Amino acid sequence: MKVVAYSIKPFEKEFLSKANQKKHEITLISNPLSIETTSYAEGKDGIIVFTNDDVSAGVIEKLAGLGIKYIATRSAGTDHIDREAASRHGIKVANVPYYSPEAIAEHAVALAFALNRNLIKANEHSHHFNFSNNGLMGFNFSGKTVGIIGLGNTGLATAAIFKGLGCIVIGYDLNFPEGSNVIEQVTLPYLYANADIISLHVPLNDGTKHIINKKSLHQMKDGVMLINTSRGPLVKTTDIIQAIYTGKVGYLGLDVYEFEKGLFFEDHEKDSFKDELLEELLQFDNVLITPHQAYLTREALQGIANQTIKNLDLWQQNKCVGKACVCAKTAGL
Ligand code: NAI
Repeated sequence: MKVVAYSIKPFEKEFLSKANQKKHEITLISNPLSIETTSYAEGKDGIIVFTNDDVSAGVIEKLAGLGIKYIATRSAGTDHIDREAASRHGIKVANVPYYSPEAIAEHAVALAFALNRNLIKANEHSHHFNFSNNGLMGFNFSGKTVGIIGLGNTGLATAAIFKGLGCIVIGYDLNFPEGSNVIEQVTLPYLYANADIISLHVPLNDGTKHIINKKSLHQMKDGVMLINTSRGPLVKTTDIIQAIYTGKVGYLGLDVYEFEKGLFFEDHEKDSFKDELLEELLQFDNVLITPHQAYLTREALQGIANQTIKNLDLWQQNKCVGKACVCAKTAGL
C-alpha cells in the first residue's frame, strides 16, 4: 500500500520502520495535514495522521478527490477526525485503540507527584544553590481519595498506580468496568465532592467537552488537584483559571490544552504572539504543563507503530481492522 504519513517527528521514524519492514511504501513528512498539504497524498492509497492534524470535512473531501481510501491515526483519540465525512466518502478510518496505557497513567501520576512535592521549583532552587525547604511542603498521597473519570485503558492503569500508593480510588464511567475490586463506583457529583485528586481519562466527545467547568468545579473540594492527560477541551480553560485564582483548584497538571492545535508538538519560543490564556496559566506556581507527551515512551511508540502497520496490512488484504475500526457507521455515531 502507498501511504503518506503526516506530522512525523524524527523520534518516530525508527519505530515505524521496524514495524513496517518495507511492506508498505510510506512517505514520511513532518508537515501537518491541512488543506494546503493534501497534495502530498496524490497517488497514495491512504494517509497516516496524528492528533493535531486537520482531518476535518473539507480536508477529507479533498483527500477523497485525490483517491484516498484509508486514514490511519497514530492515536487512541479520534476527535480530530470527522468520521462522518470520511464515511460519506467511503474512506475507512482506524486508530490505535490500545497501546501501553501505562505510559499515559505514569505521566498522569508523574504530574501529580511533581505538583505535590514542588519538584520543578525545588530543582530550580537547587540550580541556584538555594537548598532552603521553604515553600516546598507537600502531602502524602497515601490515604487521599483519587477520583478517576473514565475507566477505560488509561483510567484503569492510573487507578492501579494510585491504589498502589495507598489511595482510596473512586471512579465514574458511563460503562463502569465489571469486576473491578480496586475502584469504588460512584456518581459524578459524589466524585467531585469527595476526591482530593481528580484525573481525567475520557475521550473528547459531545458528552465530555468542558466536563470541567464552573459548575463542576464549584462541586469540588477546595484545593483539589486536577490532572488532564486526555484531551484539552475536556477542561474549560477560562473557568479553571478563575478556580485557581480563588483557590478552588490547588494544583493543575495538564498534558493537553484546550487550544493546543497548531501550538503543541512544535517550538514556539520565538513567536511574537503567544496564546494569552496559556501564558496566564503558566504564571501560576501550582500549574504544570507538558506538551502532549504522555504517549511518549519507547514502548508506546513501538505499540503505536505496530498497530498502525497492522491496520494497513489488514486493509491491503481487504479485511476489517477489528477493534481498531473507527469508521462512523460501526462506531455507533
Ligand atoms: P478508552 O476508550 O479505553 O476509555 C475511555 C473511557 O471513557 C471508556 O471506558 C468510556 O466508557 C468512557 N467514557 C466515554 N464517554 C464518557 C462520558 N461521557 N462519561 C463518562 N465516561 C465516558 O480510552 P483510553 O485509552 O483510556 O484513552 C482515553 C483518552 O485519553 C483518549 O480518548 C485520548 O483522547 C487520550 N489519550 C491521550 C494521550 C496523551 O498522550 N496525552 C495518549 C492516549 C490517549
